[in-house]
Amino acid sequence: LMVFSGQSNLALAREIADNLGIPLGKSTTQRFANDCLFVRYEQSLREGDIFIIQSLTPPVQDHLVELLMMIDAAKSSSAARVTAVIPYYAYARSDKKDAPRISIAARLVADLIQTAGADRVLTMTLHSAQVHGFFKVPVDHLSAEPVIANYFATRLEGLENAVVVAPDAGDLKRASSLARRLALPIAFIDKQRLSDTEVTSRGLVGDVQGKTALIVDDEVSTAGTLVQAAELLVQHGAEAVYAAFTHGVYVGPAIERIERAPIVEVAATNTCAYRAQVSQKIKQLSVGPLF
Ligand code: R5P
Repeated sequence: LMVFSGQSNLALAREIADNLGIPLGKSTTQRFANDCLFVRYEQSLREGDIFIIQSLTPPVQDHLVELLMMIDAAKSSSAARVTAVIPYYAYARSDKKDAPRISIAARLVADLIQTAGADRVLTMTLHSAQVHGFFKVPVDHLSAEPVIANYFATRLEGLENAVVVAPDAGDLKRASSLARRLALPIAFIDKQRLSDTEVTSRGLVGDVQGKTALIVDDEVSTAGTLVQAAELLVQHGAEAVYAAFTHGVYVGPAIERIERAPIVEVAATNTCAYRAQVSQKIKQLSVGPLF
């Protein structure tokens, strides 16, 4: 068994290798002057069971192409089996044809990964679970829920006065599953997306008055969803607002928005490389042992 990493999340790859008690395999990625990438393994892969770890975080296209090249190079180096470990699967939000003349990019990415030669895929908390079905090769779809539940069970001491909040309809199943695990009630926000970076959160279903609200979402990207939800919860009488995410992507104005928002703490796992140390409000939870 050999574990290699692309450039997107070396810290998580090292943690996974450490948990397995093996060194991270040696490979090189370079960029040519013409912007093309070059990938090479620095050790033999012949007959090996190869795991390639790559989160599809920004710059997404670079990380995707690097992953495809690593899979392709492993196959043509006579690896026995190649598993693409994709802790964060970008494009998962493009999972259906919800407008005319668009690409279902989540399926296209699945096609590319399989065409490159992946025999198996390991991923975590896909935005839509049905993306799993875009693959013909076996997919292990892990959940960060146990890690998040354990953390908040301790962090919110007893949880007697807490409520789990889904910040939009898409998160209801996720929130209800976490709420069941923690034996907490649930509330739900009616969100409307105005643009890529702006959302508006209108109504709230459920009681948050005088309670600690724990917002649960698959990812925080620009933090528009999170901040709108936090403000609405405070308007409805929530005493304190916490938030839990599997994927802390934190793009554009995210950190600044979180800093200004009425939020005590945001916890996200390390599926995405940690670029948010600048904020005291942001905590990182490890999924290395789970992988
Ligand atoms: C959307 O449906 C997802 O579940 C997240 O709510 C969304 O990706 C968060 O994006 P942002 O942080 O940019 O509002």
